[in-house]
Amino acid sequence: MSSHAASVKQTYRFDQSFEWNYVNGPQFSGAYPSVPVTPMKSFFGLPVRSRFGVPSSILSNSRWVETYARLGFDILTFKTVRSVARACGSAPNWMFLDRNGLEDRLYTGDQTMVVGDAPASTQGATMAGSFGMPSVLPQMWEPDLERACRSIGEGQVLIGSVVGSAGPDVSDDAFVADFADLTRRVCAAGVPIVEANLSCPNVGKAEGQLYLDIERSRTIARAVKEASGGRPVLLKVGLMEEPERLLAFMRAVNGYADGLVLINAPSRRIVAPDGSAAFPPGRERAGVTGTAIKPIALGAVRAAQKIIERERMALQIVGVGGLTFAGDALEFIEAGACAAQSATGAMFNPMLAIEVKTATPAV
Ligand SMILES: Cc1cc2nc3c(=O)[nH]c(=O)nc-3n(C[C@H](O)[C@H](O)[C@H](O)COP(=O)(O)O)c2cc1C
Repeated sequence: MSSHAASVKQTYRFDQSFEWNYVNGPQFSGAYPSVPVTPMKSFFGLPVRSRFGVPSSILSNSRWVETYARLGFDILTFKTVRSVARACGSAPNWMFLDRNGLEDRLYTGDQTMVVGDAPASTQGATMAGSFGMPSVLPQMWEPDLERACRSIGEGQVLIGSVVGSAGPDVSDDAFVADFADLTRRVCAAGVPIVEANLSCPNVGKAEGQLYLDIERSRTIARAVKEASGGRPVLLKVGLMEEPERLLAFMRAVNGYADGLVLINAPSRRIVAPDGSAAFPPGRERAGVTGTAIKPIALGAVRAAQKIIERERMALQIVGVGGLTFAGDALEFIEAGACAAQSATGAMFNPMLAIEVKTATPAV
């Protein structure tokens, strides 16, 4: 257990809505601790103090970005933005999963998972998240993304994550054009790297499981690359268990995308202890986040890395999923990732980057 864990509070409040956390968060007060100065490394050609940070998740505005930047997280992703406003699903949005049999259920096919009480130590918790990729209007996030870009320090990088908005009146071409337009907007706001989110475990299939449609993924990767003004392009995807699927996906996007962010939260049916739905109607499935998904994410990074080496692809992999403890970032780097990011772990323990830098300055 971390030496900070007992005294440090989680930054996101579960007893409040996503909007409340957007307006009032992060929950962090007091002086910023000093961050160990670590040697410079490279992340897609950009100088960084570490190859560790926070994926598209809790950094929903410039206040959240600035807080985590000052706490030493260097590879920061501004939470996915849209070209339209989209409300978050109502609270609860993020619940603890029962530890009892958790791993067995998670690792054995598409089994239902059960919510439970908070564990004694939240470091190491596994959660179910159901947010639905909310976004404020571009008129709000554009100036705020500019502020966020200005708020980060030397040796830090802010990635802009985008997603097209699907709908019955939105043609395939318009959907792809939405990704391209959003790419131009986040680039104009100042981000040096763009990420297209092709995976969200709790939105409609058209947006949430894009990565399973290989041709569409290629079309989006190409459109985003063309709109990026030469900036590196990352694709956020979910787990592809079948090796042939992963291989076909990587072959399709290689040359357009520069990197893959692996993995988004695995989607599972989530129930209360009495078997009733844990989240409000229509949100029976949610994404599993936190410690227990680490072996799945590490496996995905290793599988992708093997393909890259065998096929001599130019792609690089950013590892995401279950990073919770100081040694986890190095484990992902050693598995072949060019960087690693933590959402749930960084939310429970905002001192995680300091711990990573102290334990493994080479990360
Ligand atoms: C509160 C929350 C919001 C998230 N929102 C997004 C999002 O907007 N776009 C995205 O690509 N992934 C999103 N994710 C998924 C995370 O980037 C990550 O893939 C997942 O949480 C697993 O990492 P973890 O175990 O470190 O939490 C979100 C996750 C959380 C917990």
